[in-house]
Amino acid sequence: MTAPRTPRIPENLDVTIVDHPLAAARLSTMRDTRTDNASFRASLRELTLMLIYEASRNLTIRLEPIQTPVSPTLAIRLANPPLLVPVLRAGLGMADQAHALIPEAQMGFVGLARDEETLQPTPYMESLPDSLAGRPVYVLDPMLATGGSMVHTIEMLTGRGATDVTAICALAAPEGLATLAAANLPVRVVTASVDERLNEIGYIVPGLGDAGDRQFGAV
Ligand code: URA
Repeated sequence: MTAPRTPRIPENLDVTIVDHPLAAARLSTMRDTRTDNASFRASLRELTLMLIYEASRNLTIRLEPIQTPVSPTLAIRLANPPLLVPVLRAGLGMADQAHALIPEAQMGFVGLARDEETLQPTPYMESLPDSLAGRPVYVLDPMLATGGSMVHTIEMLTGRGATDVTAICALAAPEGLATLAAANLPVRVVTASVDERLNEIGYIVPGLGDAGDRQFGAV
């Protein structure tokens, strides 16, 4: 499921591209301007399942003795479920499905607005556990564009002791990956695509437009 590393991916950043026809089909629906808000949300939810499935492949497990109707056996449980952190507003559309796949997970929230002129993130909400030491954290944000919001979010998390962060993104731009790599943070990225580039106003090309507006309408 993992594509070969391309030059657009920094050497010192762990990036998994979920290269699968079903993921590509959902992403194509999200890219298409003819897709309405409801269908966009549905495709993002389904894509989120695939991204989380891949991201969680190496979660630590514990064994618990149980009894089937036929014999004793060992059940597999998650030893240390990740904290899920959707980044408002666009990450909200990934939260439910991530939680459906990892029902044991707790959820925190980060609210960041992007200044459309400077492209810099401005925090307006931080609802996180005091300590994240020893806990994996999955940041849910469909678009890794400049990387500014993601770096800001991860710094909030590392400030609370997180050392194992996964950025779950539908799409990433090479510029955003480069920003993350340069920030030298304990993060890996799981995405369905690394697109070509950012345009002059910070949108991913070819991308899918504004992921918040595509889900919820331009408000
Ligand atoms: N945020 C979006 O929603 N889309 C982009 O292309 C870049 C940032």
